[in-house]
Amino acid sequence: MEVHTHIKTPFLFVVLLATLALGSTRVGFYNTTCSQAETIVRSVVESAVRLNQTFAPGILQMFFHDCFVSGCDASILLDGSSSEKTAGPNSLLKGFEVIDAAKSMLETACPGVVSCADILALAARDSVVQVGGTGWAVPTGRRDGLVSLASEVTFPGPKDSVDDQIVKFVKKGLNTKDLVILVGGHTIGRASCTTFHHRLYNYSGTNVPDPAIDHTFLRHLRTMCPEGGDGARRVALDTDSVNNFDNSFYGNLRDGRGVLESDSLLWSDPRTQKIVQGFIGGSRRHQSKFNKMFGRSMVKMSKIELKTGKQGEIRRVCNKIN
Ligand code: HEM
Repeated sequence: MEVHTHIKTPFLFVVLLATLALGSTRVGFYNTTCSQAETIVRSVVESAVRLNQTFAPGILQMFFHDCFVSGCDASILLDGSSSEKTAGPNSLLKGFEVIDAAKSMLETACPGVVSCADILALAARDSVVQVGGTGWAVPTGRRDGLVSLASEVTFPGPKDSVDDQIVKFVKKGLNTKDLVILVGGHTIGRASCTTFHHRLYNYSGTNVPDPAIDHTFLRHLRTMCPEGGDGARRVALDTDSVNNFDNSFYGNLRDGRGVLESDSLLWSDPRTQKIVQGFIGGSRRHQSKFNKMFGRSMVKMSKIELKTGKQGEIRRVCNKIN
């Protein structure tokens, strides 16, 4: 017993030092410093989404776009003539005002304590819950970044092959399973006609539509996005359940009713098809499996290139560095 203690003590000390040096997040980081933090974010998100459901997909997508560029450090929220916000793929993001509202309430309740990066991570979870998801515990303790550059914005794109999607996720420490699960975020929200128009009339120069699209669904998409029509018009990514966080998106992929080419390809490729298949099914068990796995992969994504400890800062307002 004595011997064990001697071996364990220095070992634990080294682990503790390493943890402090690297920094890490943990569930309940604000329990003692701002016990109302999570309640405040939740209530702001709840009222915003109740008023306008499109905030839920907006905030979820914003969190993904934050994490994939210089880590989950709220760099997406910074204003500036060449900040991330100004990059093309971010031009339609929605929900900045919701994050700002939560921050302003938190600065009144506990000034200088809660980072914008954590507010965004919590708000993404609360948005999902607000449209029917079951949620997950969000580790907190992120610090806000000091840099935001449009030139660093590179996301997977709607025309990306499965190989490209996998490579881009692997670069962020996420595997193929995480890719298929996180893209399940497309169970809510919409895409502009411009992002998938190439599939509808002249797919890859063939003069015919993408053969992967179901015939009836093609008619629907063509009605929504006529040739020469308004490219900014938006179409539900998960037909028939755009405001419900559920697993029907995966069934739509199987049925040729995926809207984005990148999504639809997840069914054509055997590597991803078998993962998609695992989420299809109308039972409560399938639904809760998706919810559980989504939460798990979101937590993984929320740890990309973390800034913790003494790195970065806690911004006073989310759109400017201090
Ligand atoms: C291969 C990866 C991905 C690609 C290629 C992709 C692409 C896109 C595209 C093109 C849109 C439509 C944008 C527009 O026209 O406004 C979109 C919307 C959206 N994406 Fe993704 N995405 C990917 C992964 C993700 C992930 C990981 C999440 C979250 C976990 C996510 C959440 C969303 C949401 C919620 C919307 C709807 C936004 C709204 O309605 O305001 N996406 N995505």
